[in-house]
Amino acid sequence: MTTDLKTRAHFSRIAETYRQLRTTDEAPIRFIRDKLDGLASITAADFGSGEGRYDLLLFRYLPNLRLTCVDSNEGMLAELSRYLSAHGITDFRTVAARVEDADLEAASFDCVFSFNAVHHFHFPTFLDKAARAIRQGGRIFVYTRTPGQNARTIWGRFFPDFAAKETRLHTLADMKSQVAAAAGLELVQVKRFRYARGATLERLVGQARSRHYSTFSLYAPEAFETALQGFEENVRREFADPDHVGWHDENIMLMVERTLTVERTGEPG
Ligand SMILES: C[S@@+](CC[C@H](N)C(=O)[O-])C[C@H]1O[C@@H](n2cnc3c(N)ncnc32)[C@H](O)[C@@H]1O
Repeated sequence: MTTDLKTRAHFSRIAETYRQLRTTDEAPIRFIRDKLDGLASITAADFGSGEGRYDLLLFRYLPNLRLTCVDSNEGMLAELSRYLSAHGITDFRTVAARVEDADLEAASFDCVFSFNAVHHFHFPTFLDKAARAIRQGGRIFVYTRTPGQNARTIWGRFFPDFAAKETRLHTLADMKSQVAAAAGLELVQVKRFRYARGATLERLVGQARSRHYSTFSLYAPEAFETALQGFEENVRREFADPDHVGWHDENIMLMVERTLTVERTGEPG
Protein backbone atom coordinates (compact mmCIF):
# COMPACT_ATOMS: atom_id res chain seq x y z
CA MET A 1 0.00 0.00 0.00
CA THR A 2 1.32 3.49 -0.82
CA THR A 3 1.80 6.13 1.90
CA ASP A 4 -1.17 8.02 0.44
CA LEU A 5 -3.47 4.98 0.69
CA LYS A 6 -2.23 4.17 4.20
CA THR A 7 -3.00 7.77 5.22
CA ARG A 8 -6.51 7.62 3.75
CA ALA A 9 -7.25 4.28 5.45
CA HIS A 10 -5.84 5.73 8.67
CA PHE A 11 -8.23 8.71 8.75
CA SER A 12 -11.25 6.51 7.94
CA ARG A 13 -10.34 4.20 10.84
CA ILE A 14 -9.77 6.99 13.32
CA ALA A 15 -12.54 9.48 12.40
CA GLU A 16 -14.81 8.70 15.37
CA THR A 17 -12.14 8.90 18.06
CA TYR A 18 -9.69 11.45 16.65
CA ARG A 19 -10.80 14.32 18.92
CA GLN A 20 -10.25 12.36 22.13
CA LEU A 21 -6.79 11.25 21.02
CA ARG A 22 -5.26 14.58 20.04
CA THR A 23 -4.57 17.69 22.13
CA THR A 24 -6.39 20.81 20.93
CA ASP A 25 -4.75 24.16 21.71
CA GLU A 26 -6.53 27.51 21.84
CA ALA A 27 -3.39 29.67 21.38
CA PRO A 28 -3.40 29.46 17.54
CA ILE A 29 -7.09 30.43 17.47
CA ARG A 30 -6.44 33.43 19.73
CA PHE A 31 -3.60 34.42 17.39
CA ILE A 32 -6.00 34.28 14.40
CA ARG A 33 -8.66 36.23 16.29
CA ASP A 34 -6.15 39.00 17.10
CA LYS A 35 -4.98 39.18 13.47
CA LEU A 36 -8.57 39.41 12.19
CA ASP A 37 -9.57 41.97 14.80
CA GLY A 38 -11.81 44.58 13.19
CA LEU A 39 -13.70 42.30 10.79
CA ALA A 40 -17.37 42.31 11.79
CA SER A 41 -18.04 39.05 9.95
CA ILE A 42 -15.76 36.43 8.44
CA THR A 43 -16.24 34.07 5.53
CA ALA A 44 -13.58 31.37 5.60
CA ALA A 45 -12.60 27.89 4.49
CA ASP A 46 -10.72 25.23 6.49
CA PHE A 47 -8.64 22.91 4.29
CA GLY A 48 -8.18 19.44 5.79
CA SER A 49 -10.72 20.25 8.51
CA GLY A 50 -10.87 16.72 9.91
CA GLU A 51 -13.66 16.22 12.42
CA GLY A 52 -13.86 19.88 13.35
CA ARG A 53 -12.07 20.26 16.70
CA TYR A 54 -10.46 23.54 15.56
CA ASP A 55 -13.60 24.62 13.71
CA LEU A 56 -15.60 24.65 16.94
CA LEU A 57 -12.96 26.95 18.45
CA LEU A 58 -13.01 29.19 15.36
CA PHE A 59 -16.77 29.59 15.82
CA ARG A 60 -16.24 30.45 19.49
CA TYR A 61 -13.57 33.07 18.82
CA LEU A 62 -14.47 34.70 15.47
CA PRO A 63 -17.46 37.01 14.95
CA ASN A 64 -20.26 35.96 12.60
CA LEU A 65 -18.19 33.20 11.03
CA ARG A 66 -19.38 31.32 7.95
CA LEU A 67 -17.14 28.33 7.32
CA THR A 68 -16.59 25.92 4.44
CA CYS A 69 -14.91 22.74 5.69
CA VAL A 70 -12.97 20.86 3.01
CA ASP A 71 -11.68 17.33 3.63
CA SER A 72 -11.07 14.31 1.42
CA ASN A 73 -12.41 11.93 4.07
CA GLU A 74 -16.19 11.61 4.30
CA GLY A 75 -16.01 9.89 7.71
CA MET A 76 -14.17 12.92 9.12
CA LEU A 77 -16.75 15.30 7.61
CA ALA A 78 -19.66 13.25 8.99
CA GLU A 79 -18.10 13.54 12.47
CA LEU A 80 -17.53 17.27 11.92
CA SER A 81 -21.20 17.82 11.02
CA ARG A 82 -22.36 15.87 14.08
CA TYR A 83 -19.95 17.75 16.36
CA LEU A 84 -20.71 21.29 15.18
CA SER A 85 -24.47 20.63 15.04
CA ALA A 86 -24.38 19.22 18.58
CA HIS A 87 -22.91 22.58 19.63
CA GLY A 88 -25.73 24.47 17.93
CA ILE A 89 -23.60 25.67 15.00
CA THR A 90 -25.29 25.89 11.62
CA ASP A 91 -23.21 28.41 9.62
CA PHE A 92 -21.02 25.80 7.98
CA ARG A 93 -21.01 23.54 4.93
CA THR A 94 -18.81 20.58 4.11
CA VAL A 95 -17.04 19.87 0.83
CA ALA A 96 -15.80 16.29 0.38
CA ALA A 97 -12.83 16.73 -1.92
CA ARG A 98 -9.08 16.64 -2.02
CA VAL A 99 -7.81 20.19 -1.58
CA GLU A 100 -5.88 19.73 -4.82
CA ASP A 101 -9.20 19.08 -6.65
CA ALA A 102 -11.52 21.40 -4.71
CA ASP A 103 -13.37 23.97 -6.77
CA LEU A 104 -14.33 26.83 -4.45
CA GLU A 105 -15.79 30.18 -5.53
CA ALA A 106 -12.91 32.48 -6.53
CA ALA A 107 -12.10 35.58 -4.45
CA SER A 108 -15.00 34.94 -2.09
CA PHE A 109 -13.34 34.18 1.27
CA ASP A 110 -11.67 36.43 3.85
CA CYS A 111 -9.36 33.62 4.91
CA VAL A 112 -8.30 30.05 4.44
CA PHE A 113 -7.17 28.05 7.48
CA SER A 114 -5.36 24.76 7.63
CA PHE A 115 -4.50 22.99 10.89
CA ASN A 116 -2.14 20.00 11.06
CA ALA A 117 -2.92 19.03 7.49
CA VAL A 118 -0.64 20.75 4.95
CA HIS A 119 1.86 17.87 5.10
CA HIS A 120 -0.85 15.80 3.39
CA PHE A 121 -1.15 18.29 0.52
CA HIS A 122 1.00 19.22 -2.43
CA PHE A 123 2.01 22.55 -0.86
CA PRO A 124 2.26 24.72 -4.04
CA THR A 125 -1.18 23.47 -5.19
CA PHE A 126 -2.61 24.19 -1.75
CA LEU A 127 -1.24 27.76 -1.94
CA ASP A 128 -2.65 28.21 -5.42
CA LYS A 129 -6.11 26.94 -4.37
CA ALA A 130 -6.12 29.09 -1.23
CA ALA A 131 -4.89 32.19 -3.12
CA ARG A 132 -7.68 31.87 -5.67
CA ALA A 133 -10.31 31.37 -2.98
CA ILE A 134 -9.48 34.49 -0.94
CA ARG A 135 -10.16 38.09 -1.87
CA GLN A 136 -7.35 40.63 -2.26
CA GLY A 137 -6.05 41.42 1.23
CA GLY A 138 -7.34 38.05 2.44
CA ARG A 139 -5.19 35.80 4.62
CA ILE A 140 -4.03 32.20 4.67
CA PHE A 141 -3.23 30.75 8.12
CA VAL A 142 -1.18 27.55 8.08
CA TYR A 143 -0.72 25.78 11.42
CA THR A 144 1.68 22.87 11.26
CA ARG A 145 4.86 21.38 12.67
CA THR A 146 8.21 21.19 10.96
CA PRO A 147 10.36 18.03 10.79
CA GLY A 148 12.61 19.55 13.50
CA GLN A 149 9.65 20.24 15.79
CA ASN A 150 8.36 16.72 15.14
CA ALA A 151 11.72 15.25 16.11
CA ARG A 152 11.57 17.07 19.47
CA THR A 153 8.15 15.64 20.48
CA ILE A 154 7.93 12.75 22.95
CA TRP A 155 7.42 10.49 19.90
CA GLY A 156 10.31 11.91 17.92
CA ARG A 157 12.66 11.53 20.88
CA PHE A 158 11.66 8.12 22.20
CA PHE A 159 9.58 6.16 19.66
CA PRO A 160 12.04 4.28 17.41
CA ASP A 161 12.05 5.57 13.80
CA PHE A 162 9.13 7.96 14.35
CA ALA A 163 10.96 11.07 13.13
CA ALA A 164 12.69 9.22 10.28
CA LYS A 165 9.45 7.64 9.03
CA GLU A 166 7.59 10.98 8.95
CA THR A 167 8.96 12.38 5.71
CA ARG A 168 5.83 14.31 4.69
CA LEU A 169 6.23 17.38 6.92
CA HIS A 170 7.34 20.55 5.14
CA THR A 171 10.36 22.47 6.39
CA LEU A 172 9.91 26.16 7.12
CA ALA A 173 12.52 26.98 4.46
CA ASP A 174 10.54 25.02 1.83
CA MET A 175 7.24 26.62 2.77
CA LYS A 176 8.86 30.09 2.71
CA SER A 177 10.35 29.58 -0.72
CA GLN A 178 7.08 28.16 -2.07
CA VAL A 179 5.15 31.17 -0.77
CA ALA A 180 7.78 33.46 -2.32
CA ALA A 181 7.36 31.65 -5.65
CA ALA A 182 3.54 31.90 -5.60
CA ALA A 183 1.94 34.72 -7.57
CA GLY A 184 0.37 37.46 -5.45
CA LEU A 185 1.19 36.02 -2.03
CA GLU A 186 3.35 37.46 0.71
CA LEU A 187 4.47 35.82 3.95
CA VAL A 188 3.58 38.35 6.65
CA GLN A 189 4.47 36.48 9.85
CA VAL A 190 5.75 33.19 11.21
CA LYS A 191 4.60 32.60 14.79
CA ARG A 192 6.09 29.85 16.94
CA PHE A 193 4.11 28.02 19.61
CA ARG A 194 5.54 25.89 22.44
CA TYR A 195 3.38 23.92 24.85
CA ALA A 196 4.34 22.14 28.08
CA ARG A 197 2.74 18.68 28.07
CA GLY A 198 2.42 15.90 30.61
CA ALA A 199 0.90 12.42 30.54
CA THR A 200 1.20 8.97 32.05
CA LEU A 201 3.13 6.38 30.07
CA GLU A 202 -0.08 4.34 30.00
CA ARG A 203 -1.95 7.17 28.25
CA LEU A 204 0.91 7.61 25.74
CA VAL A 205 0.92 3.89 24.92
CA GLY A 206 -2.86 4.03 24.47
CA GLN A 207 -2.53 6.98 22.09
CA ALA A 208 0.12 5.24 20.02
CA ARG A 209 -1.96 2.04 19.90
CA SER A 210 -4.88 4.12 18.60
CA ARG A 211 -2.51 5.51 15.94
CA HIS A 212 -3.34 9.10 16.95
CA TYR A 213 -0.65 10.32 14.55
CA SER A 214 -0.92 8.95 11.02
CA THR A 215 2.86 8.33 11.20
CA PHE A 216 2.08 5.20 13.25
CA SER A 217 0.15 3.78 10.31
CA LEU A 218 3.38 3.77 8.31
CA TYR A 219 4.73 0.90 10.49
CA ALA A 220 3.99 -2.71 9.58
CA PRO A 221 2.06 -4.34 12.52
CA GLU A 222 5.03 -6.31 13.82
CA ALA A 223 7.47 -3.41 13.47
CA PHE A 224 4.96 -1.22 15.33
CA GLU A 225 4.82 -3.66 18.28
CA THR A 226 8.63 -3.80 18.47
CA ALA A 227 8.89 -0.01 18.28
CA LEU A 228 6.19 0.44 20.94
CA GLN A 229 8.12 -1.84 23.27
CA GLY A 230 11.26 0.21 22.55
CA PHE A 231 9.31 3.40 23.33
CA GLU A 232 8.18 2.08 26.72
CA GLU A 233 11.73 1.05 27.61
CA ASN A 234 13.15 4.40 26.49
CA VAL A 235 10.57 6.38 28.48
CA ARG A 236 11.07 4.26 31.62
CA ARG A 237 14.82 4.83 31.32
CA GLU A 238 14.44 8.61 30.87
CA PHE A 239 11.70 9.42 33.42
CA ALA A 240 11.86 8.39 37.08
CA ASP A 241 8.06 8.22 37.36
CA PRO A 242 6.13 6.75 34.41
CA ASP A 243 2.99 8.44 35.75
CA HIS A 244 4.60 11.84 35.17
CA VAL A 245 6.15 12.07 31.74
CA GLY A 246 6.82 15.65 30.62
CA TRP A 247 7.87 17.20 27.31
CA HIS A 248 7.20 20.18 25.04
CA ASP A 249 5.26 20.20 21.77
CA GLU A 250 6.00 22.88 19.22
CA ASN A 251 4.11 24.23 16.21
CA ILE A 252 4.35 27.13 13.80
CA MET A 253 1.74 29.31 12.18
CA LEU A 254 2.42 30.99 8.85
CA MET A 255 0.27 34.01 8.06
CA VAL A 256 0.24 34.72 4.34
CA GLU A 257 -1.55 37.62 2.64
CA ARG A 258 -2.92 37.89 -0.86
CA THR A 259 -1.45 41.10 -2.21
CA LEU A 260 -2.19 41.16 -5.96
CA THR A 261 -4.92 39.91 -8.22
CA VAL A 262 -4.12 36.28 -9.04
CA GLU A 263 -4.40 35.42 -12.75
CA ARG A 264 -7.46 33.22 -13.23
CA THR A 265 -7.60 31.66 -16.65
CA GLY A 266 -10.86 30.05 -17.64
CA GLU A 267 -12.48 30.37 -14.21
CA PRO A 268 -15.77 32.10 -13.52
CA GLY A 269 -15.18 35.44 -11.78
C1 LIG B 1 -4.06 15.30 10.84
S1 LIG B 1 -5.69 15.54 10.27
C2 LIG B 1 -6.01 17.19 10.85
C3 LIG B 1 -7.47 17.49 10.96
C4 LIG B 1 -7.81 18.84 11.61
N1 LIG B 1 -7.37 19.96 10.83
C5 LIG B 1 -7.25 18.89 13.01
O1 LIG B 1 -6.24 19.56 13.25
O2 LIG B 1 -7.84 18.24 13.86
C6 LIG B 1 -5.49 15.78 8.51
C7 LIG B 1 -6.80 15.83 7.73
O3 LIG B 1 -6.48 16.12 6.37
C8 LIG B 1 -7.31 15.32 5.54
N2 LIG B 1 -6.63 15.20 4.24
C9 LIG B 1 -5.53 14.46 3.93
N3 LIG B 1 -5.17 14.68 2.65
C10 LIG B 1 -6.06 15.57 2.15
C11 LIG B 1 -6.20 16.20 0.87
N4 LIG B 1 -5.34 15.96 -0.11
N5 LIG B 1 -7.22 17.07 0.70
C12 LIG B 1 -8.11 17.32 1.72
N6 LIG B 1 -8.01 16.76 2.95
C13 LIG B 1 -6.99 15.90 3.15
C14 LIG B 1 -7.49 14.02 6.29
O4 LIG B 1 -8.65 13.32 5.85
C15 LIG B 1 -7.58 14.53 7.71
O5 LIG B 1 -8.92 14.77 8.08
